[in-house]
Amino acid sequence: MCGIVGYIGKQKAAPIILDGLERLEYRGYDSAGMAVYDGEKLNQAKATGRLNVLYNLTRGGQTLPGTMGIGHTRWATHGVPSTVNAHPHTNTAGTIAVVQNGIIENYQALRRRLESRGYKFASDTDTEVLPHLLDNYYNGDPRKAIIQMLQQITGSFALGIVFADHPDHLYSVRKECPLIVGKGEGEYFIASDVTAILKYTRDVVYLGNLEIADLTADGAFYFNIDEEEISKEVSTVDWDVSAAEKGGYEHFMLKEMMEQRQAVRDTLNPRLKKGEIVIEELKMTDEEIANVRKLFIVACGSAYHTGVTAKYIFENLARLPVEVDLASEFRYRDPLLEKDDLVVVISQSGETADTLAALRMASEAGCKILAIVNVVGSTIAREADFVMYTWAGPEIAVATTKAYSAQLIALYLLAMKFAGARGYLHGRKLRSMIDALTKLPDQIEMLLNNREELQRIASRFIAARAVFFIGRGIDYAICLEGSLKLKEISYIHSEAYAAGELKHGTISLIEDGTLVAAVSTQASLSEKLLSNIKEVKARGAVILSITTMGNTDIENESDYTVMLPETHPLFTDSLAIIPLQMLAYYIAVGRGCDVDKPRNLAKSVTVE
Ligand code: AGP
Repeated sequence: MCGIVGYIGKQKAAPIILDGLERLEYRGYDSAGMAVYDGEKLNQAKATGRLNVLYNLTRGGQTLPGTMGIGHTRWATHGVPSTVNAHPHTNTAGTIAVVQNGIIENYQALRRRLESRGYKFASDTDTEVLPHLLDNYYNGDPRKAIIQMLQQITGSFALGIVFADHPDHLYSVRKECPLIVGKGEGEYFIASDVTAILKYTRDVVYLGNLEIADLTADGAFYFNIDEEEISKEVSTVDWDVSAAEKGGYEHFMLKEMMEQRQAVRDTLNPRLKKGEIVIEELKMTDEEIANVRKLFIVACGSAYHTGVTAKYIFENLARLPVEVDLASEFRYRDPLLEKDDLVVVISQSGETADTLAALRMASEAGCKILAIVNVVGSTIAREADFVMYTWAGPEIAVATTKAYSAQLIALYLLAMKFAGARGYLHGRKLRSMIDALTKLPDQIEMLLNNREELQRIASRFIAARAVFFIGRGIDYAICLEGSLKLKEISYIHSEAYAAGELKHGTISLIEDGTLVAAVSTQASLSEKLLSNIKEVKARGAVILSITTMGNTDIENESDYTVMLPETHPLFTDSLAIIPLQMLAYYIAVGRGCDVDKPRNLAKSVTVE
């Protein structure tokens, strides 16, 4: 996903832009560029590859003097990664420059119209229509030109815009894609997310859709596409800079794995009060909860996997039917939504396009929407009826870990709240579950401190060609997540299978030495899983079992075993995921992969 940084103030713009873009690297990109006003004209520099190529090209920004500019890291959607296609893009005269995140969906028609008026295009991007459109409408008033441009384009976008003949102004506008304004002392910033500018200011303004910011060194003017002024609240970000930095770890991913105890504790504690579960964000009475006909859980990737876990828990505890959908499927399958259904959307970033589209569709159908989100003020958070934040803090690594664990906690609490409201959970049973919940953070920490064993096991499978994850019930749900973790950072092909399915096809893939990770935490299913382990072993598989302390039957059949501490059977995914994350991490490190920024992936997929 692209990254945007802009600056206007009294300091040199280029070094600030480069620093901000570096903090957005985790979003994934293939090229980068800047445009800075030097007192007379806009100077540009663009480069493919890592940001340090642009850094070296501009000698840390020294070759681009000036105190106003915009910068961009590009994750190619239209047009191959190249210098020509890198942003910023300008009009032919080079007097208007634009950086964009998102997609201009009607760019081909606009390009044809502009070319018929004599405009010449240099790149293959959708973005380049924007500076030419601005040029076409520009008569000395940037605000009017921007409004006229906005009336022509469709799609999702976040834009930074500068005009050489208005060097005291930096403009920005967004629709669907995230963009924030940072307010400093005599300076303003724009950025795709807070981490890019946290070093300079924690006072931010979250732009709404089609709200336009006109920023100068001394002030900000916000207006809508009717050019009516709008007032915007300044929020203060309470993250500290170190929270968005590596803190001495080799990778953000390892740092964030190690932060899981805190993330779980911070998500749990505010919602446990005097032995009761209190979810203040859920503005529903027990009666309303009891009247919910069905729960739809909709998300993508790892967030979807937490939904698969949650289905088992809601149906077991609250006796409530649950449908779990991939957002990209849900939005197009015309689901049978009733107004008494509650739709839960789960998203770390709160900006995932498919999940946002699913939210809007369900809302239009009259359903109440509860969002479980990690990024405060994100689009999904702002559009849902209720928002239950996961207090995991900024998650930088593309592969989610601490936010995933925090999402599980939020879902446990929600399921228990629903079970209580529907009369299925109270008294001793509730107290014992709450007691198990409060033990999870320390149990997670204990497993995290056992990482040398996982590092040793992982070292044996660095050259693996395929890895299988098998489990039953809630253990199958965690296999989905363990498999995705391995795939997305080590690039080893992997599959998660409901263990009972092996004999229906997959077992044909098992060869001598194939690693099979078997998750067995459910006592009631342990015998079944044991026979599945024997099935694959008989065909040459090497077994890594993740099971509960004392399950020697499983251990005796396994080549490697990780024992989990005792917890409530519905909470075991919170523990089983730790060795699976570690396995993926150390295999990926052993393979020399770029763990924090895996190829082809972005931290938040804000396009379809
Ligand atoms: C998980 O490690 C991946 N980065 C990806 O599957 C992610 O979970 C998915 O894109 C959803 O992102 P979101 O939670 O920000 O909506």
